[in-house]
Amino acid sequence: MVNKITVVGAGNVGATTAQRIAEKELARRVVMVDVAEGIPQGKALDQWQSAPIEGFDSRVIGTNGYDETAGSDVVVITAGIARKPGMSRDDLLNTNAGIVRQVSEQIRATSPEAIVIVVSNPLDVMCWVAKEVTGFPRERVIGMAGVLDTARYRAFLAEAMDVSVRDIQAMVLGGHGDTMVPLISYTSVSGIPVTQLLDREKLEAIVDRTRSGGAEIVKHLKTGSAYYAPSAGAVQMVEAIVKDQKRILPCAAWLEGEYGMKGHFLGVPCKLGRGGIGSVLEVELTADERGALERSAAAVLEPMQAIKL
Ligand code: LAC
Repeated sequence: MVNKITVVGAGNVGATTAQRIAEKELARRVVMVDVAEGIPQGKALDQWQSAPIEGFDSRVIGTNGYDETAGSDVVVITAGIARKPGMSRDDLLNTNAGIVRQVSEQIRATSPEAIVIVVSNPLDVMCWVAKEVTGFPRERVIGMAGVLDTARYRAFLAEAMDVSVRDIQAMVLGGHGDTMVPLISYTSVSGIPVTQLLDREKLEAIVDRTRSGGAEIVKHLKTGSAYYAPSAGAVQMVEAIVKDQKRILPCAAWLEGEYGMKGHFLGVPCKLGRGGIGSVLEVELTADERGALERSAAAVLEPMQAIKL
């Protein structure tokens, strides 16, 4: 357990993240901060009142300012507007870049030692905004997307094979968008390569559904985007950090030459522990997968270059 974890944004993703962190008792204090007056206070009070029933001692607090967040060990940024049907993640670009910039300035001033987990979209670009503005090293600015995309992929695979989700190991790399790269060559069911259990056509259909997994939910909800699985993804990363688990998870990381790329964020396998990213793992890729990763990087670079910080 750490002393303090802040969640920026008290919308669906932020509030669900705060509740999950409190239920797992990952911090003594969980601070939810949002510009909307009353929302973080009301939701935090409601969550704190679930503590006697759920049996957790993490104190949840809501606020509109950053004073209460000072000295946070971990900060999860979920602030930003969500997608509406038909909107791509990149449509959110400029609005959310402005929001993440302001948030990052506050974090730099009040929690200079924090590990920052970015959830706001477009994810890979917002990670860059947070890293540029905080000036934190790459170990301490990490994006949550691969865990979510991989969870969707694993859920679809488990359903197709009628097996436990627990037994599916997989990794989705690349940017958090239509160009993400689910790695069939690293997908297994309790160690059995998935290609022995599912035919190519079914696998390709699952890969496609994974790529548009977020949009499928936006289409159903109409007024917002997914939050149960995104918050679960963020909290899995928080837990790996707080408990120094050294888990290997696909995260958006600032690349410094890995996979022949540098100067941008992209989803790659990372070892997560107490200091944040312990290392970026470089795995062998097929020529197709490498090509797909390069296309995904190009799709991240384009909107990134369109922003002036
Ligand atoms: C999704 C949004 C949160 O993938 O990016 O559901």
